[in-house]
Formats: sequence, C-alpha cells, structure tokens
Amino acid sequence: MLAGKRILLIIGGGIAAYKTLLLIRELRSAGAALTPVLTQAGTQFVTPLSVAALAGEKPYQELFDLTDEAEMGHIELSRTADLVVVAPATADLMAKMAAGLADDLATTLLLATDKRVLLAPAMNVRMWQHPATRRNVAVLRDDGILFAGPDEGEMACGEFGPGRMAEPGTIMDAIRNALGQGAGTGPLAGRHVIVTSGPTHEPIDPVRYIANRSSGAQGTAIAAALRDLGARVSFITGPADVAPPVGVNVVAVQTAREMEQAVKAALPADVAVFAAAVADWRVKNAGAHKIKKDGTGNLPVLEFAENPDILAGIAGLTKERPALVVGFAAETDDVVANATRKRHRKGCDWIVANDVSPGTGIMGGDENAVVLITGEGTEEWPRMGKDEVARRLAARIAETLG
Ligand code: C5P
Repeated sequence: MLAGKRILLIIGGGIAAYKTLLLIRELRSAGAALTPVLTQAGTQFVTPLSVAALAGEKPYQELFDLTDEAEMGHIELSRTADLVVVAPATADLMAKMAAGLADDLATTLLLATDKRVLLAPAMNVRMWQHPATRRNVAVLRDDGILFAGPDEGEMACGEFGPGRMAEPGTIMDAIRNALGQGAGTGPLAGRHVIVTSGPTHEPIDPVRYIANRSSGAQGTAIAAALRDLGARVSFITGPADVAPPVGVNVVAVQTAREMEQAVKAALPADVAVFAAAVADWRVKNAGAHKIKKDGTGNLPVLEFAENPDILAGIAGLTKERPALVVGFAAETDDVVANATRKRHRKGCDWIVANDVSPGTGIMGGDENAVVLITGEGTEEWPRMGKDEVARRLAARIAETLG
C-alpha cells in the first residue's frame, strides 16, 4: 500500500525506540522504502546494526560525516523522502524543533526539509504535561507538524498517563493518512460508511456507570480498513480503550441513546457496520446526585429500561436504509445458530459472529475468529488478527457494493 513511497525515519533517544523497529518492519512490509536517521541519543536504545538490518539501509548519524556528505548532502537527504517521521519524538527533540535549532543531523534535516513531518511523541507523563512541552506542541501544530499519539497507559518508568508512544499500527495509519491515502481513492471512494464501535457507558449516578469489556479494537480496525479502501467513514464510538483511527470523522458518545442519535445524524450512508457492544439496558432511575450509603444498611435498587436496538432500527428503515447493514454477534455458545437467528430478528444483511467465551481471549485481545453469515450462507474464517479480519471484511464490502 505504501509501494513507491520513501519515509525519512528519525529515531530519537527514548526507550520507545524499540517499537520503532517494529514500525520499520511494518513500513517495509507495506512496500515503503526507508531512509533511517539515528540520533546520538537514539543509539543508546537501538543499535545502528539493528536499524540497518530491518530498514535495509544504513542509518545516517552524523551531520558532519565526510562520506555521507560526499554521497548525499544533508539538504538533499531532507528532501528525498515523501514524508518525514520522527519516532520516538522526545521532549528535547520537540523543543529544538519548536525553537528552530539545528545542532545535529536530525534537527538540521527537520529544519531543512520541504516535506510534511509526523511526530510520534514518547516521554514521561510529567514531561508531556509540562507547560514547556505544551507550548512546544502548540507551536509545532501551528507550524503544520502532524502528530500520532501519544497514548495513555503504563510507561516504562512505572508511571501512568499520556506519553507512551503510539503503537506501530497507529503510526502506520497516520503515515498513510499523511500521504493522502485516505478518502478519495480506492474501491470505496465516494462511499459513506458508518461504523459503531466500543462499549457504551450507562450512568447509574453522576459518578458510576454500567459498561462492558469491549475494547473497541475490532470496530477501530474496521473503520481504518474501510478508510484505506477510500470510504468516507463516520466513526461513532463509545468510550473505548484504543484510540480512534486518523482520517475518519470521529463522533464520541457515552450512552446507547447518544449512539443512536449520532448514527441517525450520520445518515444517509451506503454501508453501516455495527461493531459496538451496546448496553442492552440503561438505569431507568439514574440519579442526578451520587447515591450515598445512609447508614441504614438499605441497598439501592436499580430499575432498568431497555435501550434502543440501533442495528435493528437502522436495518428496519424504509427510507434511508443503507444498502448494506452489517451487525455483530458476540456469543458464548451456539454461535452460528444464535447469530443466524439474530440476523433474521434484526433484519440486517450480514452478521459477523464470534465466540467471546472467556477461554478464547477474543474480548480485549488482538485476535478474532469469526463466522460471516450472509443471505447466501455461512463462512467460517480462521483465527487471525483483528486487523486482518477488518481488511477481509472491508474487501468483502467493497466487492459487494461493486
Ligand atoms: O443483540 P446483540 O447485542 O447480541 O446484537 C449485537 C449487534 O447488535 C451488534 O451489531 C451491536 O452493535 C448491535 N446492537 C445495537 N444496539 C443495541 C444492541 C446491539 O446496535 N442496543
């Protein structure tokens, strides 16, 4: 997908540099060519040899390297790529960029380049939240610099919060998007697709809610795969663990009723894929105030009301029904039989069924084993990565729409 594209990849000095090695592999397998640049600090975390072995090209390291300068000057080097990617982008590197400093090869290239620059920041949470870094990020955004991440989570230093480098897959998405491979080209160009994803949160009171274990990984991968085929994607997501893909229209919601409103507002669409794990019930007597223990030992009683079935509602539309409505069925037993019944009951065209029993590791995991149930019958797909399931499903959608 990135065949013929060259990425100038600057590897900064941070522990996340090991993930950059995985990014290099993904870039190579997507067909991209790489010009790696390793900063002095970067060599403390990954070796020039491992970068060269994976990238297929030796990394440039020194600004005043006689051999390198004679073969390709640093100005020329800064212009050879289609995109400049910095991963990890450290606080120091970003500060230098924001100030326009050019005291080593990496910063000189960043100042001299005429190409778009994408940063994947990685640093300690305090460093990311420091007013100086906040200022630098604002300046860089203003300068048109693109960002992928950082993610929030546990960090190598043991702290928790934003600052973790985005996963290679997320950076790949941002790279594709920066290179303009999102909407506009591909078999789904000109098509509008709605994807729901993630769990919903149904409030009990202002501080408590009912949720489920959906991470949003499968829905996110589907949105990215449809985008990669050129579709304009409305991505309607509950509070998910994974970051939404770049290059899609993100509508963030909390509850099932908000999700339903957002889906209706996004119509008309050619396709709607309902990958969200929508809560079936909401708390009817959700309080405006925090429910308190009053010392009497009396327990609160929650009353439930049924949430709207968004999938069934859209599948049942007579006006503005998308040509293809795809539902999911997460089952713990009798997967195919239950999912087949669900397809009829909900009136959707396809059901993507999977077994989410605890032993399968599918809920919250990276892999999925699905059965695609269409009007023509049942197709069992082998267990594969959620990204691969998404790509296959997107390809099938494109094929069906012709
Ligand atoms: O009935 P069940 O929750 O198993 O159905 C799953 C399918 O229905 C999924 O595609 C899910 O996104 C969708 N759904 C919905 N609205 C609901 C419940 C489920 O869109 N309230």
